Amino acid sequence: MILAPSILAADFLHLGDACLIVNDSEADWFHLDVMDGRFVPNISYGMSVIKQLKKAGKKFFDVHLMIEEPEKYTEAFLDAGADGLTVHLEACKNLHRNIQQIKSLGMKAGVAINPHSPIMLLQDIINDLDLVNLMSVNPGFGAQSFIPYSLQKIKDLKNMITASRSSALIEVDGGVSLLNARSILEAGADVLVAGNAVFGSADPNDTIRQFKLLGQ
Ligand code: DX5
Ligand code: ZN
Repeated sequence: MILAPSILAADFLHLGDACLIVNDSEADWFHLDVMDGRFVPNISYGMSVIKQLKKAGKKFFDVHLMIEEPEKYTEAFLDAGADGLTVHLEACKNLHRNIQQIKSLGMKAGVAINPHSPIMLLQDIINDLDLVNLMSVNPGFGAQSFIPYSLQKIKDLKNMITASRSSALIEVDGGVSLLNARSILEAGADVLVAGNAVFGSADPNDTIRQFKLLGQ
């Protein structure tokens, strides 16, 4: 199991400390949420902040773009330090082209899907993907509640990936906690994003350790 703490839930006054927590923990990736105030009703941070974080963060940078026209910024996020770039199905008119663009620049390519989007919309693109981010909340904010029907969507996506012989990882993003992580993993998830559950806890390092134990 890959654990990706979301920096969105960290103390923005002490982002360097958040990087050190992740570096020194058993967590695997940094999850970085970019919001534009158009695709989602919130604005977070962009490439300049990610570029600074990259100086301190020593693990895989998993960048989740909740923005319209992501193709305009692919190279800018590569320059900022993205190792993987995920765009939203609902934000891309030419998703196949966008995925090829990301891969041609040497990054891992992911597609995120909103809670209302059916898994079957991924059928024709699944073999081109390194990752599917299955949103288990409506994107835009941290600390929301996990939408229960996401569990069935994880199972359906797992079946699609197996049947297609795709190597795409299933990432589950939103409302993931120590209480529901086991059922999410049993449904077929490979990557857990955890924002509030990690950085909102009294001891983020110990919480990360507990997540990793659940994944064994
Ligand atoms: C939501 C973001 C998530 C968010 C998760 O739009 O995509 O990555 O940071 O936060 P939690 O784990 O607190 O739900
Ligand atoms: Zn995210």
